[in-house]
Amino acid sequence: MFRSTGPRLTVSLFPLLLPLFFMTALARAEVPLDPHIEALISRMTSEEKAGQLTILQDEFRNTPPGVNPEFKRRQISELLADVRAGKVGALFNGQGVTLGREAQRIAIEESRLKIPLLFGADVIHGFRTVFPIPLAEAASFEPELARRTARVAAIEATAAGIHWTFAPMVDIARDQRWGRVAEGAGEDVYLGKLFAAARVRGFQGDDLRAEDSLLATPKHFAAYGAVTGGMDYNTVEISQQTLREVHFPPFQAAFAAGALTAMSAFNDINGVPASGSYWLQTQVLRGEWNFRGFVVGDYTADLELIRHGYAANGSDAARIALAAGVDMSMHSGLYISELPKLVAAGELPMAVLDQAVRRVLYVKKALGLFENPYRSLDANREANQIGLPAHRDLAREAARKSVVLLRNERNLLPLDKAAHIALIGPLGDDRKNLFGPWTLFGLDENSVTLKQGLINAGVTRLSVEQGSEIETALEGGIEAAVAAAKNADVVVLALGEGERMSGEAQSRTSIEIPAPQQALAEAVAATGKPLVVLLSSGRALALKGALRDADAVVANWFLGGEAGNALADILLGTHSPSGRLPVSFPFESGQQPYFYNHRSTGRPVVPGETTEFKTQYREARNAALYSFGHGLTYTTFTYGEVTLSAPSLPWDGGLQVSARITNTGARDGEEVVQLYIRDRVASITRPVR
Ligand code: NOJ
Repeated sequence: MFRSTGPRLTVSLFPLLLPLFFMTALARAEVPLDPHIEALISRMTSEEKAGQLTILQDEFRNTPPGVNPEFKRRQISELLADVRAGKVGALFNGQGVTLGREAQRIAIEESRLKIPLLFGADVIHGFRTVFPIPLAEAASFEPELARRTARVAAIEATAAGIHWTFAPMVDIARDQRWGRVAEGAGEDVYLGKLFAAARVRGFQGDDLRAEDSLLATPKHFAAYGAVTGGMDYNTVEISQQTLREVHFPPFQAAFAAGALTAMSAFNDINGVPASGSYWLQTQVLRGEWNFRGFVVGDYTADLELIRHGYAANGSDAARIALAAGVDMSMHSGLYISELPKLVAAGELPMAVLDQAVRRVLYVKKALGLFENPYRSLDANREANQIGLPAHRDLAREAARKSVVLLRNERNLLPLDKAAHIALIGPLGDDRKNLFGPWTLFGLDENSVTLKQGLINAGVTRLSVEQGSEIETALEGGIEAAVAAAKNADVVVLALGEGERMSGEAQSRTSIEIPAPQQALAEAVAATGKPLVVLLSSGRALALKGALRDADAVVANWFLGGEAGNALADILLGTHSPSGRLPVSFPFESGQQPYFYNHRSTGRPVVPGETTEFKTQYREARNAALYSFGHGLTYTTFTYGEVTLSAPSLPWDGGLQVSARITNTGARDGEEVVQLYIRDRVASITRPVR
C-alpha cells in the first residue's frame, strides 16, 4: 500500500510536516540552482512569486469559447494590468503574434522584474493544419508519424505566438464510454509509451530554445483514464499495481523524451485528488522519476479540491495544491489571491513558494525566454509558416494511415471510380465534424469533405443524400436515401458520432451509433446494394445490425482537414489501408471496460471445454468483435517460420524474434507486424496477452 497522506494531514499537523516534505523534495531531483534565477527570487515579493505560479485565460488574444467552463472571465484591461503588476506569469489559449508581442512587451518593459510571459495553448492535433485526432493517429501504429505531425503542429503554433502545448494526453483509456479516449493513444501501454515519447519529441524538437520548439505537457497526471464507469471527472479506485503497470509508463516515457511540464488530473485516486496528492506530484514524479520541470494544475483543479471535499476553502485548497507539488495554478486565480496571505500568516513556508517559482523560471529559461523574450513572436513566420501545402500533404498522409479497414467481404473495397456511388449519411458532405474534439485553431472552410474528396479523385457518378441528422431523424431522409441507394452500384454510408460526442465531458452510457442513423443504415442495407460503412468516432463503438454486417466496414475516427481526400485515397485504392485498432471494438456497450490484455481469471472460456460457469456475459463472450491490433489491407501477407535468437528470454535481457513476411497479394500494402507474449506462471496474475 502506498501512503496517501502528505498534505491531507490535519491542519494542525501541517506546519510541522511541511518543511519535512520540502526537505524530502529537495533531497530528490530538483532543478539546478541558477544564480540569475536565485537573484530574481531574492528580489520578488510573495505576490510576484504567486504571479509566476499563475496562468490565466488569454482574453487579450481571443480564447475560443466553450473549451472550458466559464469562470471569472477578466476584462482585457484587467488582464494586462495583472501582467504589468507581475500577478500573472503565463496566459493560455490565445494566439497571434502582434498582440502576443504587446503582452510580452508589457511584461518585460513595464513589470518590475521584467520576467517574460509564457504562452500556452491546447494544441492537441494540429494548429491551423488539423491532423487526425490522437486516437486515430495511434491507429497508424507508426509513432514516427505522430512525431512528424506534432513537429508541424509545433512549427505552426510557435509561428502564431505559442510556446507551450497542453499535450500529449497520455492517459491509457480502457473504457470506451469515456469521451476523452479520443485524445490519447488508446488501451495499450506499449503503444501508449511509443506515441507519448514520439509526440513529445515532435513538439519540442531537438532544442527547446529553438523558435519552433513547443514545450510539451504530458497529461493528466494521473490515471484520469481510469475514471469509474468511464464518466468524465469521476473518482478512481485503482491498485498500486495497475497504476504502475498501466497508467504511469506513458508518463515516464514522455519525461524520458524530455517533457519539462506535466498537468495534474481532475480525478481523485483512492480518495486523494490527484491535484492535491503529495505522493503523486512530488514523491513519485520528482522522488522516483527525477522530473525536473514544473506541474501545472488542470483548469481550476486546485479550486475543485473544495468540491472534492478535500479542502475547506480557497486558502486551504491553494495550500494543499502547492504543497502537493502543483506549481502553477490554472485560471482559478487561487494562488495569486491566497499564497501571499498564507505565507504572511506563517501557514506556508516561503521556501515552498520559492521552489515552485524556481521550477517555473527554470523552464522559462530552458525555452530561452530570458535571452529572447520575443521568441516565437515573429510576424514573418506567422505569415509564412502556417497552413503550408506541405503541412496539408502530411495531414493527408496521416489521415490515410489512421484509417482501419475492419471488414471487407468479397473484397468490395477498393471501389471502381467509374461506379455509380450513392454517398449517404450525415457525415458524407459535412464539414463541421471532420476535425474531432479539441481543435481550437483550425479553420473549417479549409477542410475537405468526403464528397469533395471523391470528386477530387475523379468520381463522376455520385449521388449524395444526408438521410439523417447525427442524433435526430431527418424528415423524408430515409426515403430519399433508399431511392438513391437503389439507383447506385454501391452505397457508401458515412455516419457515426458527431465531433462533439467525444472529448471532454462527453462520456456515453452506450457506445452505439445514434438510433436515427442506425435506422437509416437498416433501411439502406435492406436495398441489398453492396454496402460500405464509414464510421466516424472518437472511441471504439459497439456495432449492431447493418453496421456490423455491412460488406465493408471502415473505422475512420475524425481525420482532420484532409479527411475527404484521404478517405478517397483508401476507398478508391490509390493507397491500401494499413491502420490497426488502438482500442478494441466490443460486441456490447455493457462489456466496458473491455481491453484485450485483461487477466485470465480462474474460469476463462477455453476452446473445446464447456462454456458453463465461465467468465463471460449471457449476451457476449469475454472477447471483442474486433480486438486491439485488428486491421485489414487490400493485399495478403504470409508469415514464414518464426525463429528465436535464444531458447528463453532472460529477465533483464532481450530476445530477437524473426520471420520472413511476404506480400502474396496483387497490390502494394503495408503490414503492421505484431508480437504478443504471455507470462504463463508468475507470482501475480498476468495479462492473457
Ligand atoms: C481542461 C482539460 O482537462 C485539459 O486537458 C486542458 O488542457 C485544459 N482544460 C485547458 O484548456
